[in-house]
Amino acid sequence: MLDKYLNKITQGDCLELFKDIPDNSVDVTFADPPFNLKKNYSSYKDSLEFQEYLDWCEKWISEMVRVTKPTGSIFVHNIPKWLTYYATFLNKHAHFKHWIAWDAPTAPMGKSLQPAHYGILFYTKEPKGSKIYELRYPHKRDRKQGYLWKDYGGKKDLLHPFGPLVSDVWTDIHRIKHNSKRDPHPCQLPIHLMDRLILLTTDEGDIVLDPFSGTGTTAVAAKRLGRQFIGFELDKKYIEISEHKLNQTLPNFRIGNNWVSFYLNDIVTIKDKDWPDLSQYFSIPNPLRNIDFEKVELLDKKWIPENVYFFESKEKSMNNVSPTATTIKESTKYKDNSENKSTHIDILSKPAIAK
Ligand SMILES: C[S@@+](CC[C@H](N)C(=O)[O-])C[C@H]1O[C@@H](n2cnc3c(N)ncnc32)[C@H](O)[C@@H]1O
Repeated sequence: MLDKYLNKITQGDCLELFKDIPDNSVDVTFADPPFNLKKNYSSYKDSLEFQEYLDWCEKWISEMVRVTKPTGSIFVHNIPKWLTYYATFLNKHAHFKHWIAWDAPTAPMGKSLQPAHYGILFYTKEPKGSKIYELRYPHKRDRKQGYLWKDYGGKKDLLHPFGPLVSDVWTDIHRIKHNSKRDPHPCQLPIHLMDRLILLTTDEGDIVLDPFSGTGTTAVAAKRLGRQFIGFELDKKYIEISEHKLNQTLPNFRIGNNWVSFYLNDIVTIKDKDWPDLSQYFSIPNPLRNIDFEKVELLDKKWIPENVYFFESKEKSMNNVSPTATTIKESTKYKDNSENKSTHIDILSKPAIAK
């Protein structure tokens, strides 16, 4: 039953499609539902009555819990207002781990405090035995001078060379602001946010299910991290965009045998347990106290896959009439450094126009 849905985005109402997914069958469920904020979706009315919206949410949250494996995790993304109701419901059916505050300005809600974070509720199916990994992100530095933001005084020698453990407040991931970097979708998530959740709770080959797939952010993150995915989405147009991006995606977000999250020219999330092996691929300041002004760097930037954060959107490729602009990269080169060889993979050898 599950195979039919694996590694694709299926069009339809998630509540209908969930019926086909067996109990305890996927490793992680993640939902980024419509927020009921009158957003301009192509095929969905984002303005239900208060109680109607909550009743609907409880239905798909129940399904998420049902299909998640006993070792698995459940994530729900929304504005804090709705998450307070979700939490009350989830507390009865799963086990609270964290409220992740993702630092990003949100729509003003009236004349009080300016909302500055979205929340991601993190629950596990069972109280014990869940698959959860500690993560690390790079030390924060002053952009111009390159110095560490925080003053560690005489303790710099004790710092982890890569960076601190990830906490439940994420200030290093930003909303996609620039239109050139986003799909024609009103609320596409930054993909390295999904990378982080996936690294936090899964291993290679695990299955991640997203019932509100949008333009496929979860699916692309899962694929590039060597995971499997199941996506549901009402809107055909968003599925086409997702497929277009998935065709440009390879399971190449790794250094050696370690899956990592890249963003721009850097690695932005690693599993703590991978550092002993990963460290051989970095130049580490010596003595370590020089970390104050010397960044830990990948020894070879060629290990960073080329299509790290930007996909030519299907719509844009269709609108792009200039002959030079219709052809994106002829091939994408990435270094399969686990076998220490360079591989050329032909991802987009034909013009990037609509299929
Ligand atoms: C907040 S967006 C998700 C965005 C996604 N995380 C991304 O990064 O692209 C919610 C999506 O849910 C879809 N949707 C709304 N109701 C649905 C339903 N009943 N079943 C499946 N998809 C639905 C909408 O079309 C919309 O694309």
